Amino acid sequence: MQDFRAFRVHLVDGRSEARLERLRLDELSPGDVVIRAAWSSINYKDALAATGAGKILRRSPLVIGVDVAGTVEASEDPRFVPGDAVVVVGCGLSETHDGGFSEFVRLPGDFLNPLPAGLGLREAMAIGTAGFTAAYALHRMEQNEQSPALGPIAVTGASGGVGSLAIDIFSRRGYEVHALTHKTGADDYLRGLGAHEVRHLEVDKLGTRPLERAIWGGAVDNLGGSVLAWLTRSVVPLGNIASIGLAADPGLETTVMPFILRGVSLLGINSRDVPRDTRLAVWQRLGGDLRPARLERIVTREVALDELPGCFDAYIAGTMTGRTLVRLG
Ligand SMILES: NC(=O)c1ccc[n+]([C@@H]2O[C@H](COP(=O)([O-])OP(=O)(O)OC[C@H]3O[C@@H](n4cnc5c(N)ncnc54)[C@H](OP(=O)(O)O)[C@@H]3O)[C@@H](O)[C@H]2O)c1
Repeated sequence: MQDFRAFRVHLVDGRSEARLERLRLDELSPGDVVIRAAWSSINYKDALAATGAGKILRRSPLVIGVDVAGTVEASEDPRFVPGDAVVVVGCGLSETHDGGFSEFVRLPGDFLNPLPAGLGLREAMAIGTAGFTAAYALHRMEQNEQSPALGPIAVTGASGGVGSLAIDIFSRRGYEVHALTHKTGADDYLRGLGAHEVRHLEVDKLGTRPLERAIWGGAVDNLGGSVLAWLTRSVVPLGNIASIGLAADPGLETTVMPFILRGVSLLGINSRDVPRDTRLAVWQRLGGDLRPARLERIVTREVALDELPGCFDAYIAGTMTGRTLVRLG
């Protein structure tokens, strides 16, 4: 195989230097399946890795990109044969393994999910880690008895990747979804994804009592910090909060009152280390009953590999709306 293009980050004196390079297959981290990549997508974590704003890479240099979808080119794993369509999210790509911003990707077979019936490769990457995480949150919340009857679901960081997919998926499932955003001007976008209401977050008006009026049936939180603390204080008895992100603040200051007096559950969501059977089941659902209905609205940008360097600052600044697809094929 000839060399191919990949977007690789080098850690130099504690700084990240990211650039497009030509690599050979034997320069990638080991794996028994080679994928001819068709699409990837940008997630917040990729922006942290590319800019060095967060410590993501555990080794250097490393091809970044936490998502990839494509077809198997060669396989020593009997579960996969050339031509199989596969999708990979999480699993340590861009942390310990060379990731998805590459024309060819080499990975252990255990990381791969067969592309579910009902999804194309491009759609799978419009969903990507963001949509997988939102669907996994819903799956966990419903295992813990979340239902539309409990009341509306608050989605924070609503206009970002996870937030957008959460609005689409939860509303499609019959939940009333309230989008909580910092952006002015995103109302039409958020309502177009299925949000019943759009609320502009004013952090200084969230109250300070150990228990506020219970208004949310449950919540999907991408922000952490004072917003997550407020959600714990304002979810109804037996409601669930999926803690997904820390885009605002990794801290959490609350009391045990919501958990003890209201039976509220705080569910930690980590899309990277989902047991394989659950991962496969969630992907099947994403091609079926949880299939997002508004992917073409959510994909707000499509770029080629060489356009990646200009893409990350908007994620760090929190000004990005929707998802960016990366064309590799
Ligand atoms: N646990 C997991 O497995 C997992 C998986 C995927 C992502 N994540 C995490 O989930 C979060 C969201 O990821 P994403 O890919 O959706 O990111 P994204 O596309 O960049 O969206 C993040 C959204 O959060 C809001 N935001 C950003 N910076 C903020 C700040 N400083 N203060 C307050 N709000 C801010 C913005 O929404 P508004 O303007 O609408 O408020 C922004 O659009 C990130 O922290 C990411 O690391 C975790």
